[in-house]
Amino acid sequence: MSAIIELKNVSKSFGGITALKKASIKVDVGEVVGLIGDNGAGKSTLIKTLVGVHAPDDGQIIIRGNEVKNWNASKAREAGIETVFQDRALCPQQSIVWNIFMGKELKHRFGFIREKEQVREANKLIREIGFTSKLIDAESPVGNLSGGERQGVAIARAIYNNAELIVLDEPTTALSLIETQKVFDFVDNVKKSGRSVLFIGHNIYHVYDISDRFIVLDRGEVVHQLNKNDIEGPEALMKVMKDAVSKH
Ligand SMILES: Nc1ncnc2c1ncn2[C@@H]1O[C@H](COP(=O)(O)OP(=O)(O)O)[C@@H](O)[C@H]1O
Ligand SMILES: [Mg+2]
Repeated sequence: MSAIIELKNVSKSFGGITALKKASIKVDVGEVVGLIGDNGAGKSTLIKTLVGVHAPDDGQIIIRGNEVKNWNASKAREAGIETVFQDRALCPQQSIVWNIFMGKELKHRFGFIREKEQVREANKLIREIGFTSKLIDAESPVGNLSGGERQGVAIARAIYNNAELIVLDEPTTALSLIETQKVFDFVDNVKKSGRSVLFIGHNIYHVYDISDRFIVLDRGEVVHQLNKNDIEGPEALMKVMKDAVSKH
């Protein structure tokens, strides 16, 4: 198995607060990993460290088998790790294609944007990740899209930016059931394309449905790593999480 990224014994404190204590995780090619834990468990800190927003105080970051020093956000992007934050700034007045290519437009030699090609490419991308409605195409304004569909545009943008691992920070928190299902379908298609997803959620049922593997964090420590096969269902996963907390 080849890990895209591996964090080994990563620790991180903020002033006197230890947010991560020798946490070790990895994400393999083509897997969906669900990161769970109570409020304050260190999920966001772990993710922010993984995507290079925080520098770890201690520990190693290993990319495809090689340790990387001075890990930061631009190295993470170079390594094909893209984050889709919940309030990820999409520009609602602009079209889907504009939002996907923002800042990285396809250009002719003299600087003109190759608009037709971008539209073709964007249409292909959004169909591949699971936009099925005939009412939506690359030229639709993002402002007309639902919450789940906006997540889809952000995911399409990550894929256009050559993401191999897409990190989703609670993408379904503010969404209805139907919208949540749309996001799950997008994630499923990301997985089918051979890419990996690291998914943070507090709704165990959502995380259970979507993930191949679970990482349970508690007070900055990785207390469990479980394959879906090792666990009967969401209730069992919930119990594992609660037992971990009460043991402390
Ligand atoms: N930037 C920060 N400054 C100070 N403390 C922080 C910061 N980020 C997180 N923490 C603390 O680290 C701990 C873990 O937080 P966090 O990673 O946000 O947990 P989670 O995402 O699981 O709720 C908490 O005690 C939180 O208060
Ligand atoms: Mg958090």
